[in-house]
Amino acid sequence: MPSPAPSRPLRVLHLEDSELDHELAATHLRRSGLDVEMRRIESEAELRAALREPWDAVLSDFNLPGFGGLQALEIVRSGAQPLPFILLSGEIGEDVAVQAMRHGASDYLLKHNLARLAPALENAIAAAQAERARRAADRELALSRQRLSELAQHLQTSIDSERAAIAREIHDDVGGSLVALKFDLAWIERRTTDPEVRQRVQSALETVSHAIESSKRIMHNLRPAILEQGLVAALQWMAARFEKRTGVACHFRSSHDELPELPAGVPLVAYRTAQEALTNVSKHAQATQVTIDLTLARGVLSLEVADNGVGLTREDLAKARSFGIRGLHERASTVGGTIDLSSDGRGTTLLLTLPLTAGASAPATLGGDDEHDPTSAWGEL
Ligand SMILES: Nc1ncnc2c1ncn2[C@@H]1O[C@H](COP(=O)(O)OP(=O)(O)OP(=O)(O)O)[C@@H](O)[C@H]1O
Ligand SMILES: [Mg+2]
Repeated sequence: MPSPAPSRPLRVLHLEDSELDHELAATHLRRSGLDVEMRRIESEAELRAALREPWDAVLSDFNLPGFGGLQALEIVRSGAQPLPFILLSGEIGEDVAVQAMRHGASDYLLKHNLARLAPALENAIAAAQAERARRAADRELALSRQRLSELAQHLQTSIDSERAAIAREIHDDVGGSLVALKFDLAWIERRTTDPEVRQRVQSALETVSHAIESSKRIMHNLRPAILEQGLVAALQWMAARFEKRTGVACHFRSSHDELPELPAGVPLVAYRTAQEALTNVSKHAQATQVTIDLTLARGVLSLEVADNGVGLTREDLAKARSFGIRGLHERASTVGGTIDLSSDGRGTTLLLTLPLTAGASAPATLGGDDEHDPTSAWGEL
């Protein structure tokens, strides 16, 4: 469908060596009711110069002295905003016409049959407009996807730093106070002989110990301090704890007993990935066995979590209210990694791939907050 004609005249560039043929085409277009402003040119230099101005379409003869219609087509199509291009020739073979269309010509017409010229021109202009609009929409969509992904990554890293900050607060503030309280209670216990007071103090000490345990657990969930012992140790610990808690056999294998120092952010991404994968196994898989494989080879760190459960489908991953795996994709991209999921009906495999050389960077707070180890002060309690 041709779009409504613009209120200004259509500007049409006409590559034509015959003034008479040019006049014929122009008259035809005007008689068809089109308000056109046409300019005739006949050389490559003139074409290149004219293309610096705005045009709505190019009409071109096929045979021009020292210059050809297909060459002209190439020049027009290579512009930043390719214009609609119609071949208008005295004679044009089918093979040439096919070649021209393949190279992006909008249409081809014979000079002795100009009846189709006006509709062909309008159609070509409308198609070019639609194409421009589609490209603009595609660009907009790609940009908006990119912004969304950047926002998700930003939120992810903000959440992690926020968690680390809260863990630090609990450690310094709550932790410090609880330790002081424990010492004071112990002091009172030593000084009193009154059995009733001693009993109260004992009970208060138990409460404090319980509060210390809870704080440690909360801190660990906020910021896995076990990571400071290295990713291998942390995943080993996670696998053992998972097996104990769920009864699902969990086997951990690693290509290295200890990994070389990993870029900032990478251990936490791997740790949280394994954590979400195991949570999913316990929530959805009905598996009896899980294997965690950690491999470092040729500068690529891979973490694979494979279960022998019910498997998952494409629809499962498209659930509107499920964010675990979506979050893993965003997390992985904060350090240049990717997540792949596969399922063959006999279980699910989640694979995190992290090239360690390029793109692995994240806010330093996420990887090792070395100066501050929340476990250290608690260890002695
Ligand atoms: N190991 C698995 N075995 C079987 N199904 C799985 C497994 N992991 C994920 N799924 C399916 O994929 C879906 C999406 O998982 P995802 O982790 O993204 O979300 P969720 O676990 O449902 O919710 P949450 O946002 O709390 O993580 C799940 O709802 C489940 O149907
Ligand atoms: Mg989940």
